[in-house]
Amino acid sequence: MTRIAQESAAEALQYGPTEGFDETKAAVRMVMEAEGMSPEPEDIIVTTGGQQALDLIAKTLVDPGDVVVCEAPTYPGAVPVFCSYEAETHQVPMDDDGMRVDQLEELCERLASEGRKPKFIYSVPSFQNPAGVTLSLERRRRLVELAHMREILVIEDNPYGLLRYEGEAQAPLYQLDGGDYVIYVGTLSKILSPGIRIGWAVAPPPVMEKIALGKQATDLCTSTLSQYFALEYFGEGRWRDYIGSLREIYRSRRDAMLEALDRHFPPQATWTRPHGGLFVWATLPDYIDTSDLLAKALRENVAFVPGAAAYVDGRRGSNSMRLNFSASTADEIREGVRRIGAVLSEQVQLYETITSEHRLPQPAQREPSGDVVPFRAPRGEA
Ligand SMILES: Cc1ncc(COP(=O)(O)O)c(C=O)c1O
Repeated sequence: MTRIAQESAAEALQYGPTEGFDETKAAVRMVMEAEGMSPEPEDIIVTTGGQQALDLIAKTLVDPGDVVVCEAPTYPGAVPVFCSYEAETHQVPMDDDGMRVDQLEELCERLASEGRKPKFIYSVPSFQNPAGVTLSLERRRRLVELAHMREILVIEDNPYGLLRYEGEAQAPLYQLDGGDYVIYVGTLSKILSPGIRIGWAVAPPPVMEKIALGKQATDLCTSTLSQYFALEYFGEGRWRDYIGSLREIYRSRRDAMLEALDRHFPPQATWTRPHGGLFVWATLPDYIDTSDLLAKALRENVAFVPGAAAYVDGRRGSNSMRLNFSASTADEIREGVRRIGAVLSEQVQLYETITSEHRLPQPAQREPSGDVVPFRAPRGEA
């Protein structure tokens, strides 16, 4: 920032092109190349975070009542996007290998029999927010095949792909598809800083044209100052090392959280074991409401995201929670999980005392979601 102030303040404080500077696009290509993708510069638009890319894509493609498909649970920040454009959103369950693509196929078949087709399928295939699970290669291939066969766009939202702590990297959907049906969304938020608000979308020209028009209406261009800042950062050539250091730190924090969960959560709870990303998803007995539990946890000065936020109808997921392991030290994580575990165990014991029941989770409860349930946002309500 000091360098920018001294050397390029006048340019950095001006408007820039709506689609972003060529230099920013070159940096975006470098980041995508690290995961095996090489998009054309003209297919890239720099956005104000990945969040704006999602909003612009929905603004471009969705008319009220259109079908959108996403995972169950889905990224909580996508829920208000789909609702505000009045999509009819269907959520497809996941298991430890990500979205159940077989159930997605059934859903597409059912919709086709009604003469309908999703406008797009939205997925966070790697280290999903909030579930922490990753779509297997086999399912990735199947999903891309399905998109080609039925001519349906797929939105691949990939903020966490470079934050892998164990196992083999999986090919992004964009790479498998070659950019025909997959629109890609990326961000610097998780590998540099969320505060600079730099994200991007990669889309084929006809869609890109409309996205750029939508962005002009929204904010004219992504902050020039932020783009200059990012370019200085990439210019230093240490970005891969920095991600390497994040991986080390986050891996040990994830391990601390998983150990603490084993130690402090009651046996009635289950949780995912992410190979990367920032989140663990815990599923609790169905009589626990995590919104109520949050109020109790907050009194102990510890927080989590209640699972209902990851469901478009807000009626499901109330016995689940998203736990973040990136933002606190390993010691804080151990203490936080201990405190949540204590309020949770108290609730479980209370329930079992009142009902004289002793239940351990059934296999069905281990999955992060339930049936495919459509939800249509009421008109005029965000
Ligand atoms: C899956 C997913 N998409 C998009 C975003 C938005 O990120 P940003 O707007 O900071 O790039 C996030 C942030 O947590 C996310 O997890």
